[in-house]
Amino acid sequence: SIIPVVMAGGSGTRLWPLSRQLYPKQFLPLLGDRTMLQETCARMEGMDCEPPLLICGEDHRFTVAEQLRLAGQAGGKILLEPEGRNTAPAVALAACYALDNSLEGDDPVLLVLAADHAIGDAVSFRRSVAAAITFARQGKLVTFGIVPDSPETGYGYIKCGAQFAGGPALEVAEFVEKPSMKVAESYLAQGGYLWNSGMFLFRADRYLEELANHRPDILAVCREAMAKAQEDEDFVRPNKALFLNCPEDSIDYAVMEKTPSAVVVPMDCGWSDVGSWSALWDVSDKDEQGNTLKGDVMALDTHNSYVQADRKLIATLGLRDMVVVESDDALMVADKSRVQEVKAIVASLREQR
Ligand code: GDD
Ligand code: MG
Repeated sequence: SIIPVVMAGGSGTRLWPLSRQLYPKQFLPLLGDRTMLQETCARMEGMDCEPPLLICGEDHRFTVAEQLRLAGQAGGKILLEPEGRNTAPAVALAACYALDNSLEGDDPVLLVLAADHAIGDAVSFRRSVAAAITFARQGKLVTFGIVPDSPETGYGYIKCGAQFAGGPALEVAEFVEKPSMKVAESYLAQGGYLWNSGMFLFRADRYLEELANHRPDILAVCREAMAKAQEDEDFVRPNKALFLNCPEDSIDYAVMEKTPSAVVVPMDCGWSDVGSWSALWDVSDKDEQGNTLKGDVMALDTHNSYVQADRKLIATLGLRDMVVVESDDALMVADKSRVQEVKAIVASLREQR
């Protein structure tokens, strides 16, 4: 069986004003009634898994515990980082914990998931994971690849190599995290590239070996912090003073770009990382005018827009390609083609207040 490792420490600033420091997007019901984190847990139902390992910041412990309970995963453990150091250390903590605590003993396989991704077709998702297991058991680090449709610069790009006999997996000829726009455009023009979905499958011991090869400094700190971890019924706390010395890096830069053992299994499951309001609009239900309207909204002659009301009635007239989002204490109106820049709003707010 496999151990799902759900990374839930991100901040999701591009979904301001809904996504906030205390309530980032993984804890919000952005699509339907359940939060992104609950959806992530639900997606694993029907797979042969051990209880999940959640990894998040200390500040979010009660939110995560409550959402795990609501998702029927109360048996899961929650690893708490005193401060985020990005995903390479987060996964290292989880891998150390899994190796020491797995029912399987020596080589637990980790399914590393982001808590804030939308997946339309869970059956197809589970099929891809199942197909990847043999490769993970052999010691490969499997990433799941998505067919790209735009030169998005926020993603990792995988150059596909030779196909393995009898399986859906391909060699990773090259892994390039967050290329420049020019480079991303050239990848799309050339073809033969997939986006890294940010979900991975590998043996815990193999991840730690690769980290030892490429970022021994990160591994050393995480090992020590976990050796001195404190654990109670729900929470595991790596040693704070030690972990605060951990260098910051993402799994993509620290390991996936460098390891010779990466393979990619293509995934076609309606994946979106819901990284912006326009991405949310893309995957949401729309009316005949192409609008997604949430809450009390009256939209007249309004097209291809995302409008979300919280307490007030929002009435729009003559809008095209706009995003209007009301929350408790803020109202944002933005051009849908500019929503990547929402993080600039958040940055200026932080500076000014
Ligand atoms: N626990 C914990 N601690 N979780 C974290 C931390 C941390 O310090 N930092 C990020 N996360 C979580 C986020 O909540 C998210 O679920 C996941 O880890 C990925 O982090 P992001 O910060 O969202 O990464 P990204 O979007 O820039 O890039 C990754 O995802 C892309 C696809 O969405 C990379 O894997 C890219 O290669 C990939 O294309
Ligand atoms: Mg992301």
